[in-house]
Amino acid sequence: MKKKIFTLVLAMILVVSCLAGCGSQGGTLTVGTNAAFPPFEYIGDDGNPDGFDVALIKAIGEKMGMKVVIQDMEFDSLVSSIGGKIDVAIAGMTVTEERKATVDFSDSYYEAVQSVIVPKGSTIATAEDLKNLKIGVQLGTTGEFIADEIEGASVSAYNKAVDAVNDLNNGRVDCVIVDKNPAEVFGAQFSDKVDVIDGSAFDFEPEYYAIALPKGNEDLAAKINNALNELKADGTYDALVKQYIEE
Ligand code: ARG
Repeated sequence: MKKKIFTLVLAMILVVSCLAGCGSQGGTLTVGTNAAFPPFEYIGDDGNPDGFDVALIKAIGEKMGMKVVIQDMEFDSLVSSIGGKIDVAIAGMTVTEERKATVDFSDSYYEAVQSVIVPKGSTIATAEDLKNLKIGVQLGTTGEFIADEIEGASVSAYNKAVDAVNDLNNGRVDCVIVDKNPAEVFGAQFSDKVDVIDGSAFDFEPEYYAIALPKGNEDLAAKINNALNELKADGTYDALVKQYIEE
């Protein structure tokens, strides 16, 4: 009899703790990123992912009462991992129609545009000048999609944007197309070697970053959007922009 009661109590404890913490929407939100995209995500001095996106999703998790676990992976495999290895992804990811076929997106949290990194003193200045060039990009990014459309371009796609910049410095590519803020970080890092040209010179369209979500999970989308709105209203969002992007 005692044993039966014990088993029953054990089973009840299991059920209750599972209700509180089981599954993707219980206690833990597993978030995929690609921590090679400063200032949005990079590996910090302590060896852990840091950056604007990481801080933002942690603040969102806090508002939702969930523990955030960051999983660093290739950018190219983020979308297909949602609903499997990861619950959501935050990675300076632009909302695109193609991605929307597979995932949903939160409200946008940042406006960006592609920039072009060129060797210092380069004459590249207009869309016309990009034709027939060797262009470096990060694999699976909107920079790659844009480069693929440029007439006569031969496109080299790298797992990390910084590897494209390294090949620019080695002379293996003629320019690199990458999002504006990381372009500025790389521009500062290699200021003796490269210049950064804003995408407006090439008529690149504005892009909107959002958190990629499992398709059809409206409950999770609403919770994340509510948290994002609260962070915008209470000043946390602006403080993070100051700390990570405008520092
Ligand atoms: N905004 C671009 C895109 O969505 C590039 C994002 C790259 N992000 C990263 N964490 N590596 O395709």
